[in-house]
Amino acid sequence: MISMNGFSQEPPEIIEAELVATRKVLESHYYVLGGQVVEFESQWADYCGIEHAVGVANGLDALEIILRSLGIGPGDQVITTPMTAVATVLAILRSGATPVLADIDPTTGLLDPESVQRCVTEQTRAVILVHIYGQVRNMAAWVSLCDSLGIALIEDCAQSHGAKEAGTSCGSFGVAGAFSFYPTKNLGAIGDAGALVTNSADIAEQARMLRNYGQTNRYEHSVVGMNSRLDELQAALLQVRLGYLDSFTQRRQEIAARYLLEIDNPAVTLLAAPLHPSEHVYHLFAVTTDRRDQLQGHLRDQGVETLIHYPISADHQVALAGIATDPKGLPHAHRHAQTCLSLPCQPQLTDPEVGAVISAVNSFVPQGS
Ligand SMILES: Cc1ncc(COP(=O)(O)O)c(C=O)c1O
Repeated sequence: MISMNGFSQEPPEIIEAELVATRKVLESHYYVLGGQVVEFESQWADYCGIEHAVGVANGLDALEIILRSLGIGPGDQVITTPMTAVATVLAILRSGATPVLADIDPTTGLLDPESVQRCVTEQTRAVILVHIYGQVRNMAAWVSLCDSLGIALIEDCAQSHGAKEAGTSCGSFGVAGAFSFYPTKNLGAIGDAGALVTNSADIAEQARMLRNYGQTNRYEHSVVGMNSRLDELQAALLQVRLGYLDSFTQRRQEIAARYLLEIDNPAVTLLAAPLHPSEHVYHLFAVTTDRRDQLQGHLRDQGVETLIHYPISADHQVALAGIATDPKGLPHAHRHAQTCLSLPCQPQLTDPEVGAVISAVNSFVPQGS
């Protein structure tokens, strides 16, 4: 099977380096928020070209901590997309604020700025822009829209590690960016981990407090915090894997370039290509088709695994029943949820495997009307 994740095909040297890093942590006898975390935070901030990185337990917490660092909570509204991992919406709810869902641009799956403007009210404090699938687009327009509305731009970078527009990395366009290092992400830990990045010393300081029970000095708690500490083992392993991020991203981009050029089945629609290759790190390569079940079954028969990101628009989640949306509804998100399919695009795919995926997609013949 040509699979969506290629951990078992990774170069064996990665495991060797991870074992060395693990041993170092074990022999240090220091396991939470120590030197490895400080070192990883510094490396990740440098990688993103941003002043502060704060390691936390996961991507959901990173978003919640950003919101809470900005003082966003009960009585405030935060606009985001329904086409995301549900964690984005949960972070808003957990901050105490009210989520409002805007529609997407069907050509990219990204938030639609016109729909966002229809969602703005007196209570709106922020937009969480999700760089879905790994793409960073039109950031100057987003920055100026949020500035003109007087609201914060927060970036959900859980799928876009290292994506850049005009040389600037995601996470540094708005007030702060949230990263997930869930194992399957472009930079993944060996378990749960996350970080937020920001150029604001205030947000970074608040975040450091919030992640550790709201502690300022030992046993002194000035705010009601949470336990969202990054552990030394994950921080050490992330440093190893960060060394491979650029080459793995380049491979994802090469694979995507072939898909964009060689998939030519009229029954399958490609999303818009990035204007510049660095704007898309292809965490996922999504296509759309009216015959998704058939295409998925055909690809399975041809030995190609696929997944759906995401089959349920957030407003259709039972847990989120009654959530506020664009007054004109979310027709594009609903259609995308019914038609999108993610093809394997992971960095361990071989050239023949990429060719096999392309042939399998191109040989698909939809049945019925
Ligand atoms: C877009 C997006 N936001 C947030 C998250 C949450 O990250 P985590 O699973 O680390 O909490 C994810 C992870 O799936 C994601 O894809």
